[in-house]
Amino acid sequence: MARRKKVYEGKAKILYEGPEPGTLVQYFKDDATAFNAQKKATVEGKGVLNNRLSEFFMKGLTQIGVPNHFIKRINMREQLIRSVEIIPLEVVVRNFAAGSLSARLGIAEGTALPRPIVEFCLKDDALGDPLVSEEHIMAFGWATQQDLDDMVQLALRVNDFLSGMMLAVGIKLVDFKIEVGRLWENDYQRLIVADEISPDSCRLWDIETGQKLDKDVFRRDLGSLSDAYTEVARRLGVLPSNVTHATKPTLIN
Ligand SMILES: Nc1ncnc2c1ncn2[C@@H]1O[C@H](COP(=O)(O)OP(=O)(O)OP(=O)(O)O)[C@@H](O)[C@H]1O
Ligand SMILES: [Mg+2]
Repeated sequence: MARRKKVYEGKAKILYEGPEPGTLVQYFKDDATAFNAQKKATVEGKGVLNNRLSEFFMKGLTQIGVPNHFIKRINMREQLIRSVEIIPLEVVVRNFAAGSLSARLGIAEGTALPRPIVEFCLKDDALGDPLVSEEHIMAFGWATQQDLDDMVQLALRVNDFLSGMMLAVGIKLVDFKIEVGRLWENDYQRLIVADEISPDSCRLWDIETGQKLDKDVFRRDLGSLSDAYTEVARRLGVLPSNVTHATKPTLIN
């Protein structure tokens, strides 16, 4: 088989040219990074889990009419996606205070917010993905007012969907981030959800115990990241319930 052309290699994923124009293959690596890649590790099986979980959430979004880049899963680590122009902003939705919101505003982690709060951060690793306002975004041309309205709409729909999915399996969706991309269809363009939705990009707490089941386990050295992600996948029925570890061969189907 001819070697595929690598389009981009990031911290968690690799993008290859897809089989058709306008498509890409997204490969999920086992690499975990935090604090702007200052902390790095390999977590065996993470890529497999995130590939499956992102597939699961994106398919669900498609079923409720939220447009996204997912086309199909190819194998354990790869999925076919629609290629988009990524808007250079991370869209963060918060339901409970945690992380940088708690640190900046002095609100205790876990405090319920009066309404979901949508934040925008500039995708710029060198600057540490700084929080930016709508004024900054429009003044510097990173997105238009229409784009921002569409991004908020998408993010809030993803929030309601994910919050409900998680609640059903005893998990609180504290916050998450999505990336949004511009999809061109002839002269018509629209914004769709891109990148990934996985425990790498969400804060997920067990409703009963408060146990963290997301990348904070890695950021804060709270135990096995692989076990945490496997637990999320198992609860959602993404893995058969008898699979207890991500690296077991029974995962392949
Ligand atoms: N459908 C898509 N079309 C084009 N690019 C995409 C799509 N989905 C995700 N991407 C981009 O692919 C890359 C995925 O790689 P990864 O998440 O490892 O990057 P990263 O290290 O987080 O870096 P960064 O997001 O800052 O570029 C990201 O740059 C992301 O914006
Ligand atoms: Mg990324």
